[in-house]
Amino acid sequence: MALFKRNKKKLYSNSMKHGVGLITVTKPTSSIAEQFRTIRTNIQFSSADKQLNSILFTSAEPSEGKSTVSSNVAVTWADQGNKVLLIDADLRRPTVSRSFRVDNQHGLTTILTSKQADLSESIKRTKVTNLYVLPSGPVPPNPSELLNSVKMDQLLNVLNDQFDMIIVDVPPVNTVTDAQVLAAKVDGVILVVPQGIALKGTVLHARDLLNKVHANLLGTIMNRVTAAESGGYYGGYYGGYYGTDDKK
Ligand SMILES: Nc1ncnc2c1ncn2[C@@H]1O[C@H](COP(=O)(O)OP(=O)(O)OP(=O)(O)O)[C@@H](O)[C@H]1O
Ligand SMILES: [Mg+2]
Repeated sequence: MALFKRNKKKLYSNSMKHGVGLITVTKPTSSIAEQFRTIRTNIQFSSADKQLNSILFTSAEPSEGKSTVSSNVAVTWADQGNKVLLIDADLRRPTVSRSFRVDNQHGLTTILTSKQADLSESIKRTKVTNLYVLPSGPVPPNPSELLNSVKMDQLLNVLNDQFDMIIVDVPPVNTVTDAQVLAAKVDGVILVVPQGIALKGTVLHARDLLNKVHANLLGTIMNRVTAAESGGYYGGYYGGYYGTDDKK
């Protein structure tokens, strides 16, 4: 079973235009939705001794499934009765407002740029019970500076008190510094790796970049795993979760 392959990278823009596929909402009893619940449970168990209140999903390169995975995992977390906030901190290729059909006039960027931000204007309730989203807001010219601001730290502190779990979607870690900046501010980080597409070197580089900022790398999610590759047992497509001790 090949984990890595030398494929040409493809940049997908359909998630930005139409949002990501929310199979946990549209087909909650499917085997794929079940895989997302397994991922949620494994993440919860990966940090049994330390409470997780915020996790960030990133990947080495663009279009590897960060938004698809983080949005669906957020749904499964909310389905458990937790009050969850999904933050779209991918200020370069945002998807959350499209995925959850909420307006993007007010969002993370408006909070970070206004003097007295009204959080209730930017945080939106979704059709999924217990799930709230903070969309990106209008795309700014200086995403890294905004995310690296004291205001962002203060915002995360306030939101940590208001929600049981905060899930953050960010750009790929190898391309821009945004993921590194935020990885240092959350309780745990998950690296999404598309099986058979990701290059081993780029994944290792991503891990090194996250280690540099002392991110708490909880594990990786192998995305785009076919039923045959996962042993055909769950018949799933989204693949498994590996803790940092499982795969070195
Ligand atoms: N497991 C999967 N099976 C099939 N298609 C997938 C899977 N995961 C993601 N995709 C598709 O790959 C494309 C990119 O996914 P997504 O937008 O979630 O990636 P991303 O890493 O967030 O991208 P970006 O770097 O633009 O933020 C989308 O078309 C999505 O539908
Ligand atoms: Mg994305």
